[in-house]
Amino acid sequence: MSTTGTTTESNFSAESYYATQPPPSNLDQEVRNVRDFVRKHVNAGRNVVLVTSGGTTVPLELNVVRFLDNFSAGTRGATSAEYFLKAGYAVIFMHRQFSLQPFSRHYSHSTHPFLDFLEIEQDGSGGGNSPLRIDVTEKERAPLLEVLTSYKNAHTAGLLHTLTFVTVNDYLWLLRAVSQELAVLGRRALYYLAAAVSDFFLPRQKMSEHKIQSGKGSLHIEMDQVPKILKPLVSEWTHGQAFIVSFKLETDPSLLVPKAQQALARYGHQVVIGNDLHTRKHQVVFVSPSADKDGKYVEAWIRMDPSQDSIKEIEEDIIVELARRHRTWIDLAIS
Ligand code: PMT
Repeated sequence: MSTTGTTTESNFSAESYYATQPPPSNLDQEVRNVRDFVRKHVNAGRNVVLVTSGGTTVPLELNVVRFLDNFSAGTRGATSAEYFLKAGYAVIFMHRQFSLQPFSRHYSHSTHPFLDFLEIEQDGSGGGNSPLRIDVTEKERAPLLEVLTSYKNAHTAGLLHTLTFVTVNDYLWLLRAVSQELAVLGRRALYYLAAAVSDFFLPRQKMSEHKIQSGKGSLHIEMDQVPKILKPLVSEWTHGQAFIVSFKLETDPSLLVPKAQQALARYGHQVVIGNDLHTRKHQVVFVSPSADKDGKYVEAWIRMDPSQDSIKEIEEDIIVELARRHRTWIDLAIS
C-alpha cells in the first residue's frame, strides 16, 4: 500500500528484512529473560504459550513524531492469557506497550477506573487525628479479590512473563527471537498470534530523520510490505513442531472462512481463528486442515449469547478448545 493509493510488490523477504532493519536495543536482554523462563518450565514439564497482543505502530520519522497505528486494544490477547494460565500453561505475553494486560484489564482506566471504587476511611483508633486508610467498596470487593488472587498466584509461581513492543520492527525481531527460544519445547509450544500486525512499513533507509515538514503541501509516502513471517515461523523457526494458531480479521463475514483456508494452504500451520470486526466478542470460527489429510478444511464455530456478556467471555471457550487440540497434537508425536 502507499498513501497515493497504489500497491506495489515488496522486495522484502523475511531474510532481507532482518538483514537490513536494525533490532531493538534491548533485544539481547529480553532474549536472556525468555530463555530463563522457558528453561524453568521445560524442567517443570509445563506447556508454554506465546500470546501476541495489540496493534503495532509504523513510525514515519527516525525522531518519531508521527506514526500509523491500528484499532487493536489487546482485549483478545489479554483475556486469553488469563484463560491459558487457568488451563495450566506458562504464558509469555508479548504485547504492544499500553495495550490491555491480563488481570489489570479488568480495571481499565476508561471503562472501570479503580479510583472510583476505592474509599478513604478514618482509622477509628485515635479519634479525629487517626491515620487515613484505603478501603474497597463492598460491591467491588469479591471480584477484586478473585482477580488479585489469580494475579498474585501467577506471579508467585512465575507463570507469566511479559514482553513489550511498540513498532512493527520491535514485534518482528521479538517474535523471531522468542520462537528460537521456544524451539526446545517442540510440540509443547503453542503460538497464539492475536496481535494485529501492520502489513506495511517504512524501511529505516527511507525514513526522514526529522519531523516531516507540513509546508510542502500533501504528503506522499510509499510504504513497503512487511514480509509474511508466518512462513518462516512455521517451517524454519519452530521446525514444524509447535502448535500454531493465527487469527484472521475481516469486516466482510463472507471472507472469513476462505481467507482462513488460504492462510492454512499458504503457511501449513494448525488453526486459523476467523473473527469479524463487529461480532468478534460473540463468535469466532476455527478453520483447520481436515484430519483425513485430503487437502480439505474443517470449520467449527464458537458462539456465545451476547446477553451473557457480564458473566462469560468467549475466550474461555476458545482456550478450552485449543488446549484440547494442543494435547492431541502432542499425543500424535508419542503414538
Ligand atoms: O485486540 P482486540 O481489540 O481484542 O482485537 C483482536 C483482533 C481482532 C486484533 C484479533 O482477534 C485478530 O484477529 N488479530 C489478527 C488480525 C489479522 O487479521 O491479522 P493479519 O491477517 O494481518 O495476520 C494474520 C496472522 O498472522 C495474525 O495472527 C497475525 O498476528 C500474524 N502476523 C501477521 C503479520 C506479521 N508480520 N506477523 C504476524 O505474526
